[in-house]
Amino acid sequence: MLDVTVTNQSASPSRAASRRCLAIVLAAGEGTRMKSARPKVLHEIAGRSMLGHVLAAVTEAGAEDVAVIVGPDRDDVAREAARLAVKAEIFVQTERLGTAHAVLAARAALERGADDVIVAFGDTPLMRPATFQRLRESLAQGAAVAVLGFETREPTGYGRLVIEGGILAAIREEKDASEAERAITLCNAGLMALAGRHALAILDRIGNANAKGEYYLTDSVQVARDLGLSAVALVAEEEEVQGVNDRQQLAGAEAAMQARLRGAAMRNGATLVAPETVFFTHDTRLGRDVVVEPNVVFGPGVVVEDGAVIHSFSYLEGARVGAGALIGPFARLRPGADLAAKVRIGNFVEVKNSTLGVGTKVNHLTYVGDATVGAGTNVGAGTITCNYDGFRKHKTVIGAGAFIGSNSSLVAPVTIGDGAYVGSGTVVTGDVPADALAVARTRQVNKEGWAKAFRDKFAPREKD
Ligand code: UD1
Ligand code: MG
Repeated sequence: MLDVTVTNQSASPSRAASRRCLAIVLAAGEGTRMKSARPKVLHEIAGRSMLGHVLAAVTEAGAEDVAVIVGPDRDDVAREAARLAVKAEIFVQTERLGTAHAVLAARAALERGADDVIVAFGDTPLMRPATFQRLRESLAQGAAVAVLGFETREPTGYGRLVIEGGILAAIREEKDASEAERAITLCNAGLMALAGRHALAILDRIGNANAKGEYYLTDSVQVARDLGLSAVALVAEEEEVQGVNDRQQLAGAEAAMQARLRGAAMRNGATLVAPETVFFTHDTRLGRDVVVEPNVVFGPGVVVEDGAVIHSFSYLEGARVGAGALIGPFARLRPGADLAAKVRIGNFVEVKNSTLGVGTKVNHLTYVGDATVGAGTNVGAGTITCNYDGFRKHKTVIGAGAFIGSNSSLVAPVTIGDGAYVGSGTVVTGDVPADALAVARTRQVNKEGWAKAFRDKFAPREKD
């Protein structure tokens, strides 16, 4: 990020950090271009609503107080805001009269006072906490207004930053701009920071005598100047300030967020063989020397500990993978899968709400649900825990060092003791004591010569 007008760059972060900060998040957008029953800011990128990303960023940037501005009849947005940020205060902007009007919906919060006020947009989910902190530092250095600009080849539609003699003089909205001002490529990102002690004085002086008849937050620059206060501009990368208005921009934001998450995973010591084919959720945690092969998807709540390998085409959510475990290819780990170190989960294996002990192997074509399995147990191909009776879920307990023969059905609730064997093809309906063998299948009968006699009877006819 580049600084346009701030000369003293050495403001200590602690100086900004000790200042009380109020974040006002505008989430009253109509979002009609999304063509969705869902409000725009509740659409998700990397498994979290855009509003959730913005609330996380302002909180990380040090905002103790958060005000979320929602439109009328937007209980769903209010509920999501309350869920994401317990302390968030919700304000309703009953009429959409412009960005400054929206900020003033939080008048009660502004009147309570703050050193720094940051204004964020709920539909601009890629903003980094560090950028909000830079805006706050400008306030700590004495600016009354700090705005965020970006350079773009496509300035149409954006407000332009008018710089005169190295000083930010005004922000001109496209519809109100002169020919010369429209040629400016330094655009307004929209988000900004205001010094708390001047915020209300500035906001209350903003009028609506412009092309749209709206109260523009951007006019705070000019108003601050008129009051003899200083306004500065910082420059951010275009990607970071991208707003989302339609599904295509949503996909663009998703791609940018995935690129960030992949980069963070690799910087943290994980190998992604083909990073562009691996998809993360915002909270995915990978340890060191984890290897993720191509085409793997991480849903919410996954932790992979050091040295584990996730083979191709696996889908994980709500799971912990212990150190050195080998998962997949084609594995599905569902919520509550808790795998200890060195567990091996092979192809076409699904694990849900189950704990597996150290070194246990479930290598092929198996469903393990609502189970506890001890260490060093081998679960053979095609084993199924029959955990559901159509109404209730039941638990399967398998001890340590046990051996479950292939194609066994374990009808829960059932317990199989330590070191027990289950013969292949067994339907286990009762508990198996430790070190016992359970077999439940009909005895084999061999009929000598039967096959040859069968062939001799039918083979000549086939030739006709
Ligand atoms: C705004 C800026 C413009 C900037 C652009 C960047 C103003 C006046 N203009 O323009 O300089 O280049 O963002 O994308 O601020 N909102 C409300 N209530 C309202 C109006 C808006 O909550 O009454 C919210 C919207 O939901 C949105 C944000 O404020 O999240 C920006 O509003 P929008 O109408 O998109 O402003 P732009 O015209 O894009
Ligand atoms: Mg906009």
